[in-house]
Amino acid sequence: MAKFDVVVIGAGAAGMMCAATAAQRGRRVVLIDHASKLAEKIRISGGGRCNFTNINAAPANYLSENPHFCKSALSRYTAADFIALVKKHRIGYHEKHRGQLFCDDSAEQIIDMLKDECSRGDVHWRMPCKVAALQQAPAGLGGFVLQTDQGEIEADSVVIATGGLSIPKIGATDFGYRIAEQFGLRMVAPRPALVPLTFDAQSWAPFVEMAGIALEVDVETGSVKGRNPTGARFREDLLFTHRGLSGPAILQISSYWTPGTPIVINLLPELDLAAALIEAKGTVRKQLGNVLAQWLPARLAEGLLHAHGFAGDARLADMPDAQLRKLGAAINQWTLTPSGSEGYKKAEVTRGGIDTRELSQQSMMATKVPGLYFIGETVDVTGWLGGYNFQWAWASAVAAGISV
Ligand code: FDA
Repeated sequence: MAKFDVVVIGAGAAGMMCAATAAQRGRRVVLIDHASKLAEKIRISGGGRCNFTNINAAPANYLSENPHFCKSALSRYTAADFIALVKKHRIGYHEKHRGQLFCDDSAEQIIDMLKDECSRGDVHWRMPCKVAALQQAPAGLGGFVLQTDQGEIEADSVVIATGGLSIPKIGATDFGYRIAEQFGLRMVAPRPALVPLTFDAQSWAPFVEMAGIALEVDVETGSVKGRNPTGARFREDLLFTHRGLSGPAILQISSYWTPGTPIVINLLPELDLAAALIEAKGTVRKQLGNVLAQWLPARLAEGLLHAHGFAGDARLADMPDAQLRKLGAAINQWTLTPSGSEGYKKAEVTRGGIDTRELSQQSMMATKVPGLYFIGETVDVTGWLGGYNFQWAWASAVAAGISV
């Protein structure tokens, strides 16, 4: 039987970071992954350039049933710490949008950097390798025994870094959730997040023609007012698709959206449309469709008028103010209820996971099962779009890596 101090299961973002951190402290570490290709999710992230962190990352950018949980790890390993590592490896990077940092060249550089950090600590690899069972060692011995297709492994600590359920075709599994269930740890029900939203075919029919149109909007869901908001609001780009809505605005709001509830989109966030139309009525002798096309893409203006029962060729001057107010509200507060989402095959992340009330916020160890740790996306901490999820992967990995 092979013996190690630490077994890390899952060689993705969090797993490699944790293995490197623990190994560089002198722990004997083995890193296991069932995939034959290393860190596919890092490779495809950020359009192939890996948005590896966000300089503004703060607890408010994360969703969790226990919103304070992420504070400790995020404050002890910050975006600046990861940037220092990237600089040490001479990887060029740039800021793209609102604090989002991307590699200049390729996401492969982040994978190589993490591999190199693992080598510096002499991490042992088992890959591809399947874990058939994980048990606590017999009473009195402490630690864990793993059955794998490369033999039995014994270790004092086991770190579960197998990620969430998104993109099953590149190796996502529910392994972490099954281990949590085996050890009696509570879960927050997982669901797809940072995901395009869909509508039933009938209600979406008027908008199918608009696929490909993109514009900046405000989008909100739930209650965003008061001291304990239950929803959120974002100003980002929205993209029409054949089946519904996508783009950063929709990916962001999807993480907060509860099935069966509406989202509200302001398609002209810088304009009070009703007021502008009423003002224009006195001076502009144009058709409604042409007036609206000053502010919105013409195809979208036409489709929206049709969908809301307005004739595009109606003369603005002939329209009653009450009708213009109705049109203004339909566009400044377009309220629609998605029928669902594109699911795990398109979701960037999984919301929910291991209930953080089962874990120590300092070390990520399960308080009921000494020596068993959960990090990264397995845990009920989900970041916004824009480098926040990798920052959580690094920070939670380091918290466990200095503790195992
Ligand atoms: P991750 O998924 O990285 O790693 C899990 C590892 O466990 C994988 O290597 C997998 O093979 C392995 N595994 C799974 N089941 C196993 C089993 N049963 N046995 C053994 N091994 C197993 N975030 C961000 O901050 N910036 C970005 O630019 C992007 N871009 C992006 C694009 C796309 C298309 C997606 C799908 C996601 C992103 N993300 C992102 C999200 C980010 O990729 C994600 O949050 C992190 O990779 C999570 O890191 P983990 O290490 O927790 O899981």
